[in-house]
Amino acid sequence: MEEFEKDMGSILAQQGISRRGFLKFCAFMAGTLALPLDKVPRVAAALESVSRPPAIWLEFQDCAGCTEALLRASRPTVTEIVLDVLSVDYHETIMAAAGKQAEEAKASTIEAGGHLVIVEGSIPTKDNGLYCCIGGHTAMDILEEATRDAAAVIAVGNCATFGGLPAANPNPTNAVGVRDLVKHIPVVNLPGCPLNAVNLTATVVHYLTFNSLPARDHLARPLFAYGKRIHDNCERRSHFDAGQFVEEWGDEGHRLGWCLYKMGCKGPETYHNCPTVRYNDGTSWPIMAGHGCIGCSEPGFWDTMTPFYQRLPEVPGFGVEATVDKLGLGMVALTAAGVAAHAIGSAVRKKMTAPASESPEQGDKDD
Ligand code: SF4
Ligand code: F3S
Repeated sequence: MEEFEKDMGSILAQQGISRRGFLKFCAFMAGTLALPLDKVPRVAAALESVSRPPAIWLEFQDCAGCTEALLRASRPTVTEIVLDVLSVDYHETIMAAAGKQAEEAKASTIEAGGHLVIVEGSIPTKDNGLYCCIGGHTAMDILEEATRDAAAVIAVGNCATFGGLPAANPNPTNAVGVRDLVKHIPVVNLPGCPLNAVNLTATVVHYLTFNSLPARDHLARPLFAYGKRIHDNCERRSHFDAGQFVEEWGDEGHRLGWCLYKMGCKGPETYHNCPTVRYNDGTSWPIMAGHGCIGCSEPGFWDTMTPFYQRLPEVPGFGVEATVDKLGLGMVALTAAGVAAHAIGSAVRKKMTAPASESPEQGDKDD
């Protein structure tokens, strides 16, 4: 238990991370959380003084991709910072302990209470949950026990948040997300396939800095990460507005980085901060790599966003298809195009899918 008493200052010093590196990390976190710059000292002060909250990481029906994403995250070591700051006492995939020793670590954390539970993977509920058993217990029972006296649950990846691939039609195990089962404590959903580790780190940093979970949308996704559509921050957006579309893979437009809407991009219906945070140490993200967004942060995307390479159908209230065709035909390089595209962009923003910020669940103190 001595480990829990260590503040982040000592942890960082132990890891040889300089003060400058630490402040850079705090500024990055403040930026990710969309906090004003004058909040950076508060983030730093909180992280330097706060004790590490114990956490348990559970894996159920999943591919371990979110764990992989966490382990491959930024250097210098946001991953290590998160793991050390969080004091992950139990993680089946990466912990050194095994068997009885591992179960004891989990049991003592659960008994103490007030911990965070991080869940990766969906939970099968058919036939009393017998399709996912660990150590003779079903995922349903393990989740119930681990969350009983916990402070909050953070569900990571599309499987833990919305059921993901295991819940795709016909959903043979009746897989569900954490929020379908856990009702007595706050749940933060961090969907994505996989999770973006930066968003997990920022959620924890918010929790440590403000003693509350970040404000969330109606799907329990933090607004700082899921408050804006991919389409609104996409680096190819100017090509959408100018009517410059990739028509087939490898064509001139594809080589020039034009808009992937006609190749099936689901960015106009997807809320996620991929364009600003990116993956792999901020190196790239799907659209930057030349592939359309498949909507992996949205509920049921394996069913609702497929076929992945088919363009979005007309959205009620606004003829996106018609607009795209008009743009493609005649508006390139005209002054009028800029004006019209601007108007179209505004109309799209107003009339397409409802903004995620509607009905936000605010991060309150007792979160
Ligand atoms: Fe970007 Fe896709 Fe929108 Fe085109 S349709 S601007 S590629 S998000
Ligand atoms: Fe997923 Fe689309 Fe981002 S596919 S990773 S939400 S660009």
